[in-house]
Amino acid sequence: MFCRRCFRHPAAAGWLPAVDQISYAKDVAPILDKHCKSCHVAGQAGYVVSGFELESYETLMKGTQYGPVVLPGDPLTSVLVMLIEGRADPSLKMPHGEAKPLEPAEVATIRQWVEQGAKNN
Ligand code: HEC
Repeated sequence: MFCRRCFRHPAAAGWLPAVDQISYAKDVAPILDKHCKSCHVAGQAGYVVSGFELESYETLMKGTQYGPVVLPGDPLTSVLVMLIEGRADPSLKMPHGEAKPLEPAEVATIRQWVEQGAKNN
């Protein structure tokens, strides 16, 4: 989106704060590794019950046995974002059970990554 008067990007023109580009490898994968991976690999409960495997970018994007949980550009309806933001049924809170929830900054990072297109960057 560019300003129609000056043809500059609003962030470049200094009117909007520049938005950081979130990296899957540097920002998102470490959060999922820390909070989610222990249950979402072959043989563990999360994977066995839902089919959702956190082995790679490809398995993350593949989603559960019912389909994708990340919709690039659409954090509002992405199930993954709903779960970590606590917008789903409490029985489906992730991390599951008593595990500690994500820090607000970690939730924001994942939300922003989805918003920016959920790229393998
Ligand atoms: C302590 C184990 C555990 C941890 C940690 C965990 N999960 Fe899960 N996860 C589960 C289990 C068990 C299910 C199946 C829940 C069910 O269907 O009742 C599940 C299901 C899911 C699903 C599928 C939900 C659906 O719609 O069927 C997603 C997506 C998911 N987890 C994401 C995550 C994310 C993201 C994290 C980290 C923030 C995480 N999980 C951490 C155990 C875990």
